[in-house]
Amino acid sequence: MTIRIGTAGGGTFGELHLQTFSLLQRQGRCVLAGLADPSEEIRGNRAEKYGVRTYSDVAEMIDREKLDAVTVATPDPAHLPVVLTALEAGCHVFVEKPMDVTVEGCRAMVDAARAGNRLLQVDFHKRFDPFHAQVREAVADGRIGEPLYGYAWMEDRIEVPSKWFPGWAPRSSPAWFLGSHMLDLFRWMTGGPRAVRVFATGARKRLSAMGVDTWDCLNAKIEFEGGLSFALDTSWVLPDGFEAVVNQGIRLVGTEGIAEIDSQDRGAAVCYGGATQQTINPGFQFVSTDPHGNPRYVGYGYDSIADFADNVNFLKEGGTLDSLAGRYPDGEDGLEVTRILCAIHESAETGNVVTL
Ligand SMILES: NC(=O)c1ccc[n+]([C@@H]2O[C@H](COP(=O)([O-])OP(=O)(O)OC[C@H]3O[C@@H](n4cnc5c(N)ncnc54)[C@H](O)[C@@H]3O)[C@@H](O)[C@H]2O)c1
Repeated sequence: MTIRIGTAGGGTFGELHLQTFSLLQRQGRCVLAGLADPSEEIRGNRAEKYGVRTYSDVAEMIDREKLDAVTVATPDPAHLPVVLTALEAGCHVFVEKPMDVTVEGCRAMVDAARAGNRLLQVDFHKRFDPFHAQVREAVADGRIGEPLYGYAWMEDRIEVPSKWFPGWAPRSSPAWFLGSHMLDLFRWMTGGPRAVRVFATGARKRLSAMGVDTWDCLNAKIEFEGGLSFALDTSWVLPDGFEAVVNQGIRLVGTEGIAEIDSQDRGAAVCYGGATQQTINPGFQFVSTDPHGNPRYVGYGYDSIADFADNVNFLKEGGTLDSLAGRYPDGEDGLEVTRILCAIHESAETGNVVTL
């Protein structure tokens, strides 16, 4: 009863999906049955590297490969039609963050999953980082006391919007692309509160001057029910010489405790081939070779994707969605994060405090 999985979107991050499923396939935990991507170049490269059959169209892949599940790693503003196609064809779905860049789009996904009794899981992989999980446990068992306020930052080097995906960066933002992670993480650590008020500012200077018309930074203050306060700084204009592609961390203060996690610097630095020294985060993605000569993919970036496959296996063996409830980032979590992100953009654009 091995589950059959296909991925839609095989670009930079979709490749992690393919790596995860090729590893799970070797372990008998899934069949990596297909990749759908309109780019001929991506299809050719991924077919050669992962031995996967490729399609230019998602619906055709689902139909021809008799898929149980689809994972979606298309650009931020291009998740919705793919997710709906997959759910309506009866597949379980794993979607990259942000789930969608509109509240209505997220609702349509949640409704379609519910109507078809299908799993809809969002790739909020910061939940799978053990450094973060232990803070959640400290909150849950009372060691931090009542959470009062927190702060997170997530910042990319400028190469990400300007060189990796300049074509769709104008239809995303550092808040959509990066802040979505930290909003989910903070809510998950603190028991899933709802946001009630948002104020945000932002700037559009460096990237728009380079012809990539998007926010450089978005900086927000979010009030959750009960007065819990969260400050969030996002940007994607760190200079080329910065020590890592991403800089990130989170802190949380409660009535009886404090936790501070540098989510980027895990104490690993490398300097290869005369390039400048880099602070790498092996907690997220560590690629090496196992003693048998097979690629080994380790880290919370992979664990989150593998968790989806495990959940689909569980369902295929007769498990129920009800018994998985609360154990994975679900559509409602994705919807709440998008609701807050829409308020952040509205506040930055209007200068108003947005009440939710
Ligand atoms: N979880 C994370 O930490 C993380 C990190 C990076 C990116 N992402 C997310 O992954 C998604 C993809 O980002 P990326 O950096 O890989 O982008 P990318 O531009 O490198 O890749 C996107 C791919 O999707 C393909 N595509 C476009 N429309 C499609 C469609 N309708 N059907 C199938 N394929 C389609 C494109 O041809 C391209 O190959 C984004 O939502 C991004 O936010 C997540």
